[in-house]
Amino acid sequence: MANNTDLVIFGARGDLSARKLFPALYHLDQGDLLPKTLRILTLARERLDIDTFLADLKEKIRPAIGDERWSEEQWTRFARRFSHVTLDFSRAEDYRGLVEKLSKTRTSIFYLATPPSLFAPICEHLGSSGCLAGSSRIVLEKPIGHDLKSCREVNETVGRYFREEDIYRIDHYLGKETVQNLLVLRFANRFINTQWDQSCIDHVQITVAETVGIEGRWSYYDGVGQLRDMVQNHLMQLLCLVAMEPPNAMTAEAIRDEKVKILRALRTIDDSNVNEHVVRGQYRAGWYQGKPVPGYLEEEKANTNGDTESFVAIKAFIDNWRWAGVPFYLRTGKRLPEKLTQVVICYKSLPHNIFSSGENIPNRLVIRLQPNEAIEMQMAAKLHSLKDKMSLVRENLSLDFFGSAGLDRIPDAYERLFLDVIGGDQSLFVGGEEVEESWRWCDSIINAWRQQAVEVMPYHAGSWGPAKAGLLIEKDGRSWRE
Ligand code: BG6
Repeated sequence: MANNTDLVIFGARGDLSARKLFPALYHLDQGDLLPKTLRILTLARERLDIDTFLADLKEKIRPAIGDERWSEEQWTRFARRFSHVTLDFSRAEDYRGLVEKLSKTRTSIFYLATPPSLFAPICEHLGSSGCLAGSSRIVLEKPIGHDLKSCREVNETVGRYFREEDIYRIDHYLGKETVQNLLVLRFANRFINTQWDQSCIDHVQITVAETVGIEGRWSYYDGVGQLRDMVQNHLMQLLCLVAMEPPNAMTAEAIRDEKVKILRALRTIDDSNVNEHVVRGQYRAGWYQGKPVPGYLEEEKANTNGDTESFVAIKAFIDNWRWAGVPFYLRTGKRLPEKLTQVVICYKSLPHNIFSSGENIPNRLVIRLQPNEAIEMQMAAKLHSLKDKMSLVRENLSLDFFGSAGLDRIPDAYERLFLDVIGGDQSLFVGGEEVEESWRWCDSIINAWRQQAVEVMPYHAGSWGPAKAGLLIEKDGRSWRE
């Protein structure tokens, strides 16, 4: 683990910092996983002394940490790592105060928890002020642009100041334990890998369902929508990890190369097939756990009649040897009935069923990322019975990560990602080419929606999306696994 590191956080007073970044650092510190000499330098526009900053931070992160994990002693130890600089990110002269705090003999990690419009000016000011004189890395939060063109611009500007091996683009899904387990499942188990192609697999389903709405983020979300917010990054990453060829090593370069090949092999969805392959929806008022919840257009600060989608279902194909003819059904939405992120690999039926008194039960491999992280192989087994000699039932072979690891909490994805940035391991971060390829594919869908004037289909909050999302898969003789 790198010693002598300064973690410089832009946007330290923002929502992401309070909800995710500082709680993750607190937990790592509590677990003695941070280098002893790591310093945390927080930057924000408001003129604050360090005591006021810390008092405010403590109040904000306590709920995220929870009573069981909170310790005043631990907080005091954690707080000693902090110093604070008042800095207006867009004012070049303000960076002088920052240069004084940095040292050429230490590694500076600049974490940009800011709107993407600030990525370019921040990099330019870091460069011109002399902040990059020593060894430095940069961490970028999604979204990297809002389409291929703007993504390229961000990549180019950041690339002028940082080498690709020093750029850490975060997709927090890659920090989730079960996502990493997907790699182990595929590449450390021979029998799985030999059954992983169109000869055995009928189709794949990837669901990322959320119960929350847009959580007061109207100004960000409206005009972005679920395709850009969730598909372009999280779902594309899951799809790549499921579909890619085995990399020759667990290095960032080898993994990224394989992911890029999948993104390039994705069949284009454009105005010739968008209606057949994609469903876009928007929630109306409904119910969640017995309580009424508002529709998208009634959310806090809603100020337009926008037709931004809060739900997307897609039938995608990967045109390569391994996946020829295998549909990948993707769906993601807000205000669905449960929080569920899972990949389901649905195997083909047997070519011939010799068990006359049993239905044909095709295998299914369920990789559940949240909740209850687990991998389950659904198998056909014999019903224990003297009466029915050969009746088949579906049983589960199950790996329960949470229970079996004896953990009392599941580490947040950001904990893994912080450790890797500090340790200089990019394998769980997204490469520049990957983000661009992913935008290329998503842009084509967005353009097709525009050209065809595809409207959002309403669905009730608390349901599984518009009825057409069911039809998307049912017309192929299949059904969503919930
Ligand atoms: C973020 C999106 O990237 O992921 C949010 O911007 C979404 O809209 C969140 O709610 C979901 O993350 P998780 O880890 O709760 O599944």
